[in-house]
Amino acid sequence: MRNLTAKELREMWIKFYVDKGHALIPSASLIPENDPTVLFTTAGMHPLVPFLLGEKHPCGKRLVNIQKCVRTGDIDEVGDDFHCTFFEMMGNWSLGDYFKKEKIAWSYEFLTSPEYLAIPKEDLVVSVFAGDESAPRDMECYEAWRSMGIDEGKIFFLPKENNWWILGSGVGPCGPDSEMFIDTGKPKCSVDCSPACSCGKYVEVGNDVYMQYVKKTKDGPVSPLEQKNVDTGFGFERILCLASKKDSVYDTELFVPIIKKIEEISGKYYLLNDDTKRNMRIIADHIRASVFMIADGVVPLNVEQGYVLRRLIRRSINCAYRLGFEGSRLAELVPVVAGIYSDVYPELTEKCEHIEQTIREENDRFSKTLSQGIKEFEKVAKFTQGGVLNGKTAFRLYDTFGFPLELTKELAKEKGLTVDEEGYKLAFSQHQEKSKAGNDKVFKGGLADSSIQTTRLHTAVHLLHAALRKVLGDDVYQKGSNITSERLRFDFNCDHKMTDEEKKRVEDLVNEAIDRAIPVTCEEMSLEEARKSGALGVFENKYGDKVKVYTIGDVSKEICGGPHANNTKELGHFRLVKEESSSAGVRRIKGVIESEA
Ligand code: SER
Repeated sequence: MRNLTAKELREMWIKFYVDKGHALIPSASLIPENDPTVLFTTAGMHPLVPFLLGEKHPCGKRLVNIQKCVRTGDIDEVGDDFHCTFFEMMGNWSLGDYFKKEKIAWSYEFLTSPEYLAIPKEDLVVSVFAGDESAPRDMECYEAWRSMGIDEGKIFFLPKENNWWILGSGVGPCGPDSEMFIDTGKPKCSVDCSPACSCGKYVEVGNDVYMQYVKKTKDGPVSPLEQKNVDTGFGFERILCLASKKDSVYDTELFVPIIKKIEEISGKYYLLNDDTKRNMRIIADHIRASVFMIADGVVPLNVEQGYVLRRLIRRSINCAYRLGFEGSRLAELVPVVAGIYSDVYPELTEKCEHIEQTIREENDRFSKTLSQGIKEFEKVAKFTQGGVLNGKTAFRLYDTFGFPLELTKELAKEKGLTVDEEGYKLAFSQHQEKSKAGNDKVFKGGLADSSIQTTRLHTAVHLLHAALRKVLGDDVYQKGSNITSERLRFDFNCDHKMTDEEKKRVEDLVNEAIDRAIPVTCEEMSLEEARKSGALGVFENKYGDKVKVYTIGDVSKEICGGPHANNTKELGHFRLVKEESSSAGVRRIKGVIESEA
């Protein structure tokens, strides 16, 4: 396999697909804008769901990008050689254009050609879908791999658990996939050893999903999609690790500078022992993920994305404690992370100070919680009988006050007590099971139930934006928005708390536009034309060269990916539920629509 740097790998992926007629689109935010079913963007296809379902993409039918993603389902595995909570996914898409044959030929070329990854052909192993009641055995993929010269014995037919892809929410576009692996040459672990097993013989390098079906509800049937798509995901960190001949992603250039800095702060050697290594890896992963999340607007809170961020920072503080340094010093890692990505994500450098501050403030809040926890500990210690602090209590100290087990043990020791560690582990794993079941998901209903409502709310956001500019002035702009199937949230710059009259006027303007039953129209144009036409473009860097402009009569004109309602009358009635401060100079509105239909 070729030796590559991160920069070379990025450029190589993009060039390969741009040369094959794909338009480069930027990475979307880590916070899914119009999908209430999950907290974070978990795959490159995630921001593209409407387009995989048939909506026209302004940049065409062939797309390529490298997308920032967060997955926290395996957070407890972080610290091993490969797991990360934040990662980048190299992706390319065919939106109803080419399909299996072309895609397999390209994947094969990218993986094996000496110009690209140059993986020896004989090391390549693939899997394809074995077929079941919802879709047939994927002979098309099988034949396509055979025609590349892959031996029969290197093509594994695997069931749905391995070779079918759908978002974690269990709804949306989906289909059989074909995964690609490198055979490490290790002996088979059993006669049944296959890429489905985790013995380490086969290392996954990429996944091509053939999204030709849709699942509208979690428990509903799989139905064919009119548009047959390709969705590809190659893990950036994973491939970089292989291409730089390292045993772990933490040994690549994406992590080494962070780990060096942790060594410097802690005065400890990374390879001192397994615990040191694991704690340093957890900090490096969690702080890297936190930097990206904060840059995309997440703040530590007790709910939703903010809760995940809080957990990542607090876990890092605990690891810092174990390594013998103060949590506030974790902020020193922020410029290191920003430096690693300075040419790809320059916004990290721009936001460095804010990110450092967020981490320091969270550390202060956590210290306060810890001192409350110490008081709680004193109380329970007094009533502990038999010299053993029970496991449930130790877990509560961890869960509510963030006490790492080591801290509880130390405090207990000072009082001549021991801690029931088995009981603690049991309580911990019971809790883990519970949270795994609900991990990353925020909304119980399916995409199908929620999509009509979120589409309407999306249109309401445009009306609200226009109304706010009318009432508060033209220098008011959207600073951010977030939609769940229940409500919209809209942030905008404004230097004062809105008066009751202003709020009423905004609400009335939105409802007037709804009552006028204005058609919502969409045109495609270049970013430059859109700007000239007077369209509001809110987050300019997130669009490609071609954009969609949504017009709502004489009320609103905005650059936006959609989708939107066809007519404002579909919205029913808008109610402004809350107006509050979001951050300095930024106000936040929460609103709902009460459909009359
Ligand atoms: N969506 C697929 C994955 O995440 C391929 O991009 O693996």
